[in-house]
Amino acid sequence: KIVPVLLSGGSGSRLWPLSRELYPKQFLALCSDRTMFQDTALRVGDELAFAPPLVVCNQEHRFLVAEQLRQSGLKPRGILLEPMGRNTAAACALAALSVAATDPDALLLLLPADHEIRAPDAFRQTVLVAAQAAQTGRLVTFGIAPTTPETGYGYIQRGRPLDEVEGAFEVAAFVEKPTLAVAQSYLEDGGYAWNSGMFLFPVGQLLAELERHAPAVVAACRAALDGGQSDLDFFRLDATAFAVAPSISIDYAVMERTDMAAVVPCDIGWTDVGAWSALWDVGSKDADGNVLVGDVLMEGASDCYVRSENHLTAVVGVKNAVVVVVDDAVLVADRDHAQDVKRIVDRLKKTG
Ligand code: GDD
Ligand code: MG
Repeated sequence: KIVPVLLSGGSGSRLWPLSRELYPKQFLALCSDRTMFQDTALRVGDELAFAPPLVVCNQEHRFLVAEQLRQSGLKPRGILLEPMGRNTAAACALAALSVAATDPDALLLLLPADHEIRAPDAFRQTVLVAAQAAQTGRLVTFGIAPTTPETGYGYIQRGRPLDEVEGAFEVAAFVEKPTLAVAQSYLEDGGYAWNSGMFLFPVGQLLAELERHAPAVVAACRAALDGGQSDLDFFRLDATAFAVAPSISIDYAVMERTDMAAVVPCDIGWTDVGAWSALWDVGSKDADGNVLVGDVLMEGASDCYVRSENHLTAVVGVKNAVVVVVDDAVLVADRDHAQDVKRIVDRLKKTG
């Protein structure tokens, strides 16, 4: 039994001004006419292959989550509400403890709710291969062929093939967010894949590895669940108990340290929709290489991403720009500096 776990904790600050704290990017329709959260849930919506999903999200977003699932015709297994973000090791531990209580043999398919996958059929095939590897007790990662020395990702060094499973390999090393020089050397080496951020874990094995490498996270999550309260589909964690969970990602807490990891290399059209430049990458372009959304007029402009819903926006003679217009803010950025939008958000947070 594969139980999808939808991780929805990020705020998506590099997609300001559309993505806001109370309305983060995964709840916006950025890549299709559905939101990224809905696309993620529907990708695993086939009841023959997947159990109903478990959602782990911030309590502020409970109505967005419930409403978007309802719109997509999906009934969740449950929605765990975090009183505050404590990173992905805690989110994984919550999911594992909650599922293990009734399904100790389940496989957890952890899915960030802010990724775009353009080859859903290949994704499903890959999950089936991963499931075979997970059934042998492995913590399975999905390896993406790297194209740039991206420093925001984890890198997986492929080891020898698993005897039991065609298409799966041991992980020789897992390195989260290396420096640029190291990432560059991995790219040249050719034996490394990007970690997609999706995982398939046998629930018992995940708990065992978490107990071993991050016992304080498990203890806090167990107490937060024990002291929590059910409220329809929602489950409210005990805030005082959860607050003491160390904030660490599953990549640092477990994946860098475990010797049970495996990797399934895959070609699934994966994109981490982190910044506006990624939306230009995945968007459909006109003859001038522009990706245009909404009420937009272009004249002599090329390779731009322009999005404007309620205002007529005209762009003239500009190359390589990102222009995003919403009711109360306008962003104009160079496409190569799209990551730096986060700095504006940090400044806005400081000044209130
Ligand atoms: N529920 C919950 N609670 N979800 C969370 C929390 C939290 O406290 N923190 C993060 N998440 C969700 C995010 O919303 C996102 O969907 C996913 O977990 C991953 O978290 P990120 O913060 O986006 O991680 P990252 O991008 O720095 O790194 C991860 O993803 C890369 C690929 O996109 C790592 O797994 C890397 O190794 C990987 O390459
Ligand atoms: Mg991310």
